[in-house]
Amino acid sequence: MTTLTASPAWKALEAHAGTVVGLHMRDLFAADPGRFEAFSISLPEMLLDYAKNRVTADTMALLIDLARQAGVEEWRERMFSGQAVNTSEGRPALHVALRNRTGGPVMVEGNDVMPLVEGVLARMREFTGRVISGAWKGATGKAVADVVSIGIGGSHLGPEMVCEALAPFRKPGPGIHFAANVDGADIALTLDGLDPASTLFIVSSKTFTTPETITNAATARAWLTDALGEDAVAGHFVAVTANPSAAAGFGMDAANIFETWDWVGGRYSLWSAIGLPIALAAGMDAFEELLDGAHSMDGHFRGAPLEANMPVVMALIGVWNSGFLGAGSHAVLPYGHHLRGLPAYLQQVDMESSGKSVTRGGQPVDYQTGPVLFGAPGTPAQHSFFQLLHQGTRPVPADFIAAAEAPAPEAGHHRMLLANFFAQTEALMKGRTDDEARAGLEAAGLGGDDLEGLLPHKVFEGNRPTNSILARRFDPRTLGMLIALYEHKIFVQGVVWDINTFDQWGVELGKKLAGAILTELEGDAPTGGHDCSTNGLIDFYKALNGGAR
Ligand code: F6P
Repeated sequence: MTTLTASPAWKALEAHAGTVVGLHMRDLFAADPGRFEAFSISLPEMLLDYAKNRVTADTMALLIDLARQAGVEEWRERMFSGQAVNTSEGRPALHVALRNRTGGPVMVEGNDVMPLVEGVLARMREFTGRVISGAWKGATGKAVADVVSIGIGGSHLGPEMVCEALAPFRKPGPGIHFAANVDGADIALTLDGLDPASTLFIVSSKTFTTPETITNAATARAWLTDALGEDAVAGHFVAVTANPSAAAGFGMDAANIFETWDWVGGRYSLWSAIGLPIALAAGMDAFEELLDGAHSMDGHFRGAPLEANMPVVMALIGVWNSGFLGAGSHAVLPYGHHLRGLPAYLQQVDMESSGKSVTRGGQPVDYQTGPVLFGAPGTPAQHSFFQLLHQGTRPVPADFIAAAEAPAPEAGHHRMLLANFFAQTEALMKGRTDDEARAGLEAAGLGGDDLEGLLPHKVFEGNRPTNSILARRFDPRTLGMLIALYEHKIFVQGVVWDINTFDQWGVELGKKLAGAILTELEGDAPTGGHDCSTNGLIDFYKALNGGAR
């Protein structure tokens, strides 16, 4: 047994879960008209309604006990004060320093990192100003018409998601494109139709060793130099990295290398110069408003009592659903087209952070950690996988997210969108009883065997947990709040589960094997040394390619 499952708070929750499994949320709502007030948290810009979860006041009190016992408050302070909360890599996780807007210091090993952070922000402002205004000229004297951001994972998903989300706040400026996949089709499609003379590349890679990014950057470089010659590289490539010497080796001018640091995790890095595409698309003022919003959520997370703390409550609901109610997955459902990239972005932040099966101390866990996160924007998702959410055999807790204001003048679409959001959470909670289904079928004129045959298909069990997050609108500030909300939720869950939220050793093995297999695919040596399935796949591939690469 691990410390967590042996703890009094966990055991109390286990005992309590036995009394909750038989409860239906319909009855909880019927018994308590004040349930919404009791189980929601509102900030001036954002509301979290968690009333449609299978929790009672006792559940929440026990979950708060669990958080205290796990040391959430202490770990939170460790993170904000720059201690090495990334225990397996021995370093801090200080994305909060990137959006520290207090003017005060943030110390890492005795040094204030804020001058570094402020310095890069100032350079970003100067750089984006030059590119947007047309003052930045390429090798032939042309201004930048297109920016191609090359990066993957944390060096891609956040910037792309935010650029999409802030499309209504787009400023006149270059087109922004992203290339991530090592499949050559990605960079080829991205470059198709672009003019080398007016294209600027941002190579975003914390390590500057990620094979996908380096391969795509090399292809982009060849595309550029074929047209404009080697000397063009310095004026058409900038880098964002914690490995500036590797970027310089690629041919970047030292003046065009933006620094990020070891103490910023890749999937938590959109607040750094990794966010350059955001600043180019929406302007540096909007980028700083994004930081302001995240900082305000940081303040809420750091200061609010656990019971009224949005990230803490969302985290504890997640721990409850997976640890005590058997949920193995979690859906993120933004009701807003501009937030369509949020599920893919959160997949990395959540699953790379919480997909762990040993504790910080290296003990195997004996409880569930991070759920399988998936999602898609509503309403299209309703016509895709919602059937399973409503009538499938596995519980899938879900977050519904929307803005009250429509992003642009439109004719009634937004009301329809929001009507669907509210209806879906209500339907998932209430379900449809046997009696209600029967009455509906009778009203439609059915009876006898026809009615009895159809009846079981028309019943919805309900009692399916959802959180609802509603903001006035998703502008840069509230979007910053939303992203920080999820970052802190994930951190709190990691503390409770006693796992390291900030490492990602699980991505290493596949990368290493791919490197070795690439050598085999390139050479003529016979395949061997793998299991027979892998050998067979490689041989089949070689046969289809005429034995060649
Ligand atoms: O997938 C593993 C990972 O290390 C992520 O954590 C990171 O965001 C991504 O690769 C890209 O890494 P880099 O920014 O170093 O290219």
